[in-house]
Amino acid sequence: MGKDIAVVTGASGGIGQAVARHIHERSGGELRLALHYNGGRAAAEALCAAIPGSFLVRADLATAGGRAALLAKVLERGTPYVLVNNAGIDRPHEPALQIEETSFDALVALNLKAPVLLMRDFGREMAASGSGVIVNVSSVLARVALVGSAVYRATKAALEEMTRQFAFELGPRGVRVNAVAPGFIETSMTAEIAPELRRKILAQVAVGDFGAPEAVALAVGHLIENDFANGSILHVDGGMAL
Ligand SMILES: NC(=O)c1ccc[n+]([C@@H]2O[C@H](COP(=O)([O-])OP(=O)(O)OC[C@H]3O[C@@H](n4cnc5c(N)ncnc54)[C@H](OP(=O)(O)O)[C@@H]3O)[C@@H](O)[C@H]2O)c1
Repeated sequence: MGKDIAVVTGASGGIGQAVARHIHERSGGELRLALHYNGGRAAAEALCAAIPGSFLVRADLATAGGRAALLAKVLERGTPYVLVNNAGIDRPHEPALQIEETSFDALVALNLKAPVLLMRDFGREMAASGSGVIVNVSSVLARVALVGSAVYRATKAALEEMTRQFAFELGPRGVRVNAVAPGFIETSMTAEIAPELRRKILAQVAVGDFGAPEAVALAVGHLIENDFANGSILHVDGGMAL
């Protein structure tokens, strides 16, 4: 797996932490981890302390300045080989007729615009170096409806299309682009789901449970390591999007 730097956005969150740990373990420490966070400094610092050779980058990826800072801080350290576009938000949960323009803009800025522009910027560096792998974190909700998740769903569905487009255009330049589509995973994003809604969701999951962040990390690791995977959307959802 080794080839300099692996960037994980949202490494302070549940899935990002598991992904960063997995990449570190699978690469035998050869890939240095750039651990991105925004407000979750304590979680990011704890992770950084646990992963030798890793370094932290704080950035609000919903802004052009934040994205530029992430790129610049990674390039100061070396050559990006892996980018995991994991940072994301799912709130606010607004029913379709109550969608606010500000929440629409916020969801699109972080969940769609940020990963697409980071794919463009890191993709250029990877193409120039002749190799790279990008994994985007989508969601089962790209394919499954849930009241209050219209804009979130749209951002993830669009991210999947962008994944395929970038895979098509960057593949010939040595850069593979794939996505994972997790189902409901036990992280802070799902911690406050009300018991009644949780029961309804579980009724749609064939294996009958939420997943662990490590299940998503395994899938991300697979897409990084499998050199014939390009343009794939790997579902890790316990059988929810069937
Ligand atoms: N949990 C699930 O059930 C589930 C299912 C499908 C897909 N996903 C996707 O998986 C990804 C990770 O989710 P998670 O469950 O690990 O959630 P999480 O624990 O809430 O983590 C979210 C991450 O996004 C970062 N973030 C939030 N706002 C940001 C901003 N403006 N700029 C930069 N980073 C920002 C957070 O950083 P700070 O904490 O440092 O602010 C945090 O690291 C998301 O893309 C989510 O849509 C999650």
